[in-house]
Amino acid sequence: MLSQSASKATPEELASFYRDLETQSTAALWTVQESVLVNEPKSKAVPHVWRWKELRPQAMRAADLIGTQDAERRVIMLLNPGLDGRIATTNSLFSGLQIVMPGESARAHRHTPAALRFIIESDGGYTTVNGDRIPMHNGDLVLTPNWTWHDHGNNTNTPIMWLDGLDLPLAHMLEAVFYEPYSEDVQPVTLPTDSSLTTYGAASLRPTWENPTETHSPLMHYPWDQTWAALQRLAPVADGSPYDGVVLEYTNPNTGGPVMPTMACHIQLLRPGESTKAHRHTSSTIYHVVEGEGFSVVDGQRLDWENKDVFCVPGWAYHEHANASATEPAVLFSFTDAPVLRSLSLLREQPHPEGHQ
Ligand SMILES: [Fe+2]
Ligand SMILES: [Fe+2]
Repeated sequence: MLSQSASKATPEELASFYRDLETQSTAALWTVQESVLVNEPKSKAVPHVWRWKELRPQAMRAADLIGTQDAERRVIMLLNPGLDGRIATTNSLFSGLQIVMPGESARAHRHTPAALRFIIESDGGYTTVNGDRIPMHNGDLVLTPNWTWHDHGNNTNTPIMWLDGLDLPLAHMLEAVFYEPYSEDVQPVTLPTDSSLTTYGAASLRPTWENPTETHSPLMHYPWDQTWAALQRLAPVADGSPYDGVVLEYTNPNTGGPVMPTMACHIQLLRPGESTKAHRHTSSTIYHVVEGEGFSVVDGQRLDWENKDVFCVPGWAYHEHANASATEPAVLFSFTDAPVLRSLSLLREQPHPEGHQ
């Protein structure tokens, strides 16, 4: 019959043993076991709201103070107050507000962290991705996946602003960040305007002769009019998700899966007065309020939000959403690292046992 053994050492002998281990770049697992193999995760990131009425003036101030010659990208970073100066909005995701002024360009470059842009204010600025010039209008989603050349330009008379979303903290943690500037400030446009939308933008119709092998969506542009039309069609007739209301995922037309291997994007509509049930998942999420007002309860904390605010839900934090208006819908854009966790068998989801916090 096997049994557990008793320790033989005196406290002094153990202390001396641990000191010796340290000098050899080793340590005893049993002294830290409980902090390594935790019962469940607890994110250092905290729930937080970044208010549009504070963010926008700071972006305009940045545009006054800094030119694009001195700022490769003029971005106000959204830094999680719980993450002690890390360049991160949640543990794995980064978000920021970028501004390009009339007549300016943000020069061409590429990097392994993947990026997405959700357009907040633009009357026809553009992003060029691998030679495809994509016009940007309010509510559009534009992708610049891993290692794609991209530059931005504003040939309109008003500032353009968008929310950046990147998997930068994840790529940093994996020590897989590469960056390269393009040889010229602006890359040549080599394809007809908005080529990816022309080729892949027809819902449910895919050109058979195109056979992309990339792991990301070949469609780089998800225009707002299509997104809004889909929400409007479904909202009156669908029950929707108990946790998110009428929620739709932007998909890779080749796979039906997420738009990029590291990030999935969603749009959701909370009907007037709708409030959802609480759940939690190991993936973290960054939300942008496209329109409307309401609140989310995250880890027991109420986050009130309104038009164009940004807020985050750390991993494994219970959350639920509510539309505060009795007459208007609330619409949230969000992006998440769920594809990473799913591909590693680390994605877990749990409903709140009582439905609400
Ligand atoms: Fe970039
Ligand atoms: Fe959720």
